[in-house]
Formats: sequence, structure tokens, C-alpha cells
Amino acid sequence: MRTKVGIDDIAVYIPRLYVELADENRPEKPTEFSMARKSDPSKYLHGIGIAKMSIPDTYQDSAVLAANAIFELMERNNVQPSSLARIDIATETGVDESKPVAAYVHGMLEQKYGKGSLNRTSGVEYKFACVSIADALESSLDWAWAGRSNGRSSIICATDIARYPLTSPGEPTQGAGAVALLVEEDPRLLAIDPVIGTHMEDEDDFWRPLFSTTAVVHGKHSERCYLRAMEGAVDNWAEQAIASGIINAGPGESLVDHIGPMSFHVPYPKMAEKAFAYLLRHFWRGLPRWKAVVGEISDEPKADGYKKREEFEKAEADYMKRFMETHEFQAEYLDKVADGLVHAKESGNSYSASEKSCLSMLLETKAMRGTDLAGKRGGSGNYGSGCKAKASSWTVQEGWATCAKKFGHAEKLRHRRPVSLAEYEILHEGKPFPDGRKFVAEPESEFVLVDVTSQGYRHYRFAD
Ligand code: HMG
Repeated sequence: MRTKVGIDDIAVYIPRLYVELADENRPEKPTEFSMARKSDPSKYLHGIGIAKMSIPDTYQDSAVLAANAIFELMERNNVQPSSLARIDIATETGVDESKPVAAYVHGMLEQKYGKGSLNRTSGVEYKFACVSIADALESSLDWAWAGRSNGRSSIICATDIARYPLTSPGEPTQGAGAVALLVEEDPRLLAIDPVIGTHMEDEDDFWRPLFSTTAVVHGKHSERCYLRAMEGAVDNWAEQAIASGIINAGPGESLVDHIGPMSFHVPYPKMAEKAFAYLLRHFWRGLPRWKAVVGEISDEPKADGYKKREEFEKAEADYMKRFMETHEFQAEYLDKVADGLVHAKESGNSYSASEKSCLSMLLETKAMRGTDLAGKRGGSGNYGSGCKAKASSWTVQEGWATCAKKFGHAEKLRHRRPVSLAEYEILHEGKPFPDGRKFVAEPESEFVLVDVTSQGYRHYRFAD
């Protein structure tokens, strides 16, 4: 029998600065940001689903965010460096074209655990836009399933700073953060099924050329790529799940009925909600319950009923909005997906770190609420522009709630401060503060970037 492998614990690092896009208690009240961008705060809160976006301080880059998440994970679990076979990093906002973030993180951790303590621990940087976390995790699982771990664990960490040009349509979907996963045999949180679905295409939806610090994006096209790839990956997962007997959907049942909590890549919460709606429609078609939905919101639009593709796409989008308002959709969405999206509403997009950060929020929220998830199967859907999606499933383990209650996720979201528009724009553009300040908020017992030499080498230290 294959060894049970999966996620034993999760640690999230969230920068302590944020830009307020909308006031959640008074969505109609303009914010400094919405006024400057001549936009409606309700568009941010209800249209895309983001209230605040996290931004890093001057001493934070993707390596620092990762090292802080990993250090917390190691300390909380008393993980000895010698027990780690690999510390792999997933990122699309790395700090060097050659030296991986994994090497800089190694150096930071050795400042705490002793020089040479991680000499027998490997590390690499994975890149495929936001989906790289799924590739990094899959590689670690394959290695453990192949029987090569010899009792040692691995840490997978996704870390990113999502940045679009000031005033661009992508600007309100920025964010930053890191999430570290302890991957072990007989995990306390989630045992992952050896069934992973993939869908990949060569697409021009979003990219960041070597000369640019901000991404180029075809926003509306990127949404369509996300939905198409996610459906393809889930179909590929379903084929394998059925063939291997992991899931058997009976008559009148949908595969989704056999999946409880779900977590998606979240560029902004509305996107994940839409993805879930498209998947439900896909898997409900042909079932009696879909007939009931159609009875409420009419038949689906058909492409051959429209002269222009744009007209059909608009009819499709309107139809899906109506579906998302039905009781049938809302009940599934609130039960399975919504709790995790609170992370993205409060923090924005953190690219590769987004899906697992939302999973952390989902598990912590359900644990605090006393929901019984032990033994339930859940699902993860990852998407990376360019483009590729991955779909996977996992079973929640007996000890999950004790573990999830210690994440401290909601507390980290509370322990932050807003920045003014002027501070945000200075940080975004990497300019000096006119009043001579070196940073916005004092570091709090964490790794910081000290300097970057004229040759581009980076120095870090732990600021006590
Ligand atoms: P936009 O043009 O600013 O927004 O771009 P919009 O005008 O289409 O409005 C957005 C929604 O708000 C619409 O709803 C409006 O109706 C609604 P929808 O029709 O989509 O359901 N709205 C309002 N709602 C309430 N009150 C109002 C109001 N006004 C409008 N007053 C866009 C939005 C997301 C395209 C833009 O922000 C963008 O380009 N973002 C970056 C790209 C992105 O996040 N794409 C998502 C898929 S790709 C992905 O996930 C990968 C990624 O994470 C990168 C990676 O893989 O590395 C990005």
C-alpha cells in the first residue's frame, strides 16, 4: 500500500501593512484609494471582492516573506534542520535570475539554527506563475511516495509580491504573502490523494518580462483562461479519481457531492466564486437538480443562437450571475468555499501563495467554529497564467482541528496597520520617503533585507 503523505502543518506570513480599498462596514463611503482612482469602493468590495491589499515594507522581498513563514513553521513544530530533506520555494517574484530564493532562505535560517545546519537539506525554486506551489508540492509528494524520504520531512513554501502598474485595472488586485507547508508521512492535517489533474496551454493572459517589476495582463482574457484551464484540470482529476476508485458517484449524484471543503487560486475572491459556479454547472448538468435550477433561471444560452462571439459571452456571463444568486449555488458555496476567501478579501492576491493561504484560513475558520471535517475529502484548484491549472484532492485527518486552531491566521490579519496613499505609492515605486524614514513599521522579531550591493547581492538578518 502507498504511504500516506500530505500536509502536517501550515504557517502563513502576512505583511503588516495594507491599503484600504473599501470600508467593509460602510462600502458606499469613498476611501482615499477609491477617490484617487476615481472609482467606486463597492466595485472593489462587491465587484471583485477585495477590501484590503497587503503590501510589503521597504525591508521585505519574497525571500524575507518565505523565511519568516518557514521559521514560524519550524519553531511551532520544533523541527530540527537535520530532519528536513528539502526546503523548496515556489515564486514568480524571485530576487535573482540565477540564485534561487531557496538559497537565500537557507542562509537566513542558518543564522538562527547554526552555520552548516542545513548542509544536508536541498532546495530549489519553482516557477510557473501562481500554480508553481502545486508543482512544488507534487514533486515532494512523488519523492515521499517513491519511498525516498527515509523518515525525513520537506517544507514547501510559496512566496510572492503581486504588483501591477499604478492606476492600471490590475492595481486593486495586488497583495503579498508567503505560506509554508510541512510535508510528512502520516500528516496531522491533510493526506493527499495520489491523483492530480493537469490542464496546460501556451497563453498570453499574463506575464512579467525580465525588464519589468510589474506584470502585464490581459484582464478579461485571463479570467476566461482561468475558467477553461480549471475545468480541464478538474476533468483530468475526475477521470483518474473514478478510474482508481477514489470516488464513486452513484445515480443522481455529482462528483462534487463527494468533495467537502474546497480551496482555489484566488486572484480576487469573485474569480474563485465564479470558478466554483462554472464547476458546479459542469458537474450538475444532466442531473435532476440542474433541471430545477434551469426551471428557476431558464435554459443556458447556446453559442449558435448568437451572431457575435462577444454577444454569446455576455449572455453566458449574465446567466452565470443568475446561477450564482440561486439558493442551490449559495448553499454549496457558503458551505465549501466562502470561508477561505476571507483571506483574499483582507489581503489581496499573493500569486503562488494564494490558494494555500486561503486553505489555511478555511481550515482555521472551520476549526474555530467546531465544524467536524475529520475523514471528509476536500479539493484544491490551482491556476497559473501562461497557463496551467492543477486539481488535487485530500482527506482531512483526525487531528486537524487541534493543529488548525494554532495557525493564528485571523490574528495576523488583525495585527496590521493601514498606509496612506502617499506611503503606498512610495513603497510601490521603491522611492525614498521625503521625511527620511527608512521604513513604515518597525520589524517585529523577523528576517529583514539589510541591503543590496552594487553587484546585486542581497544581505539579510534577523531583527530581534
Ligand atoms: P476591471 O476592468 O477594472 O473591472 O478589471 P470591471 O469593470 O470588469 O469590474 C469588475 C467587476 O466589478 C464586474 O463584475 C463589474 O460588473 C463589477 P463581473 O461582470 O466581472 O461579474 N462592478 C461593480 N460591482 C459593484 N459595484 C460597482 C461596480 N462596478 C463594477 N460599483 C480585472 C477587473 C479583474 C480584469 C482586473 O482587476 C485585472 O486585470 N486584474 C488582474 C488579472 C487577474 O487577476 N486575472 C484573474 C485570472 S488570471 C489569474 O488568476 C492568475 C494571476 O493570479 C497571475 C498568476 O498566475 O501569476 C493573475
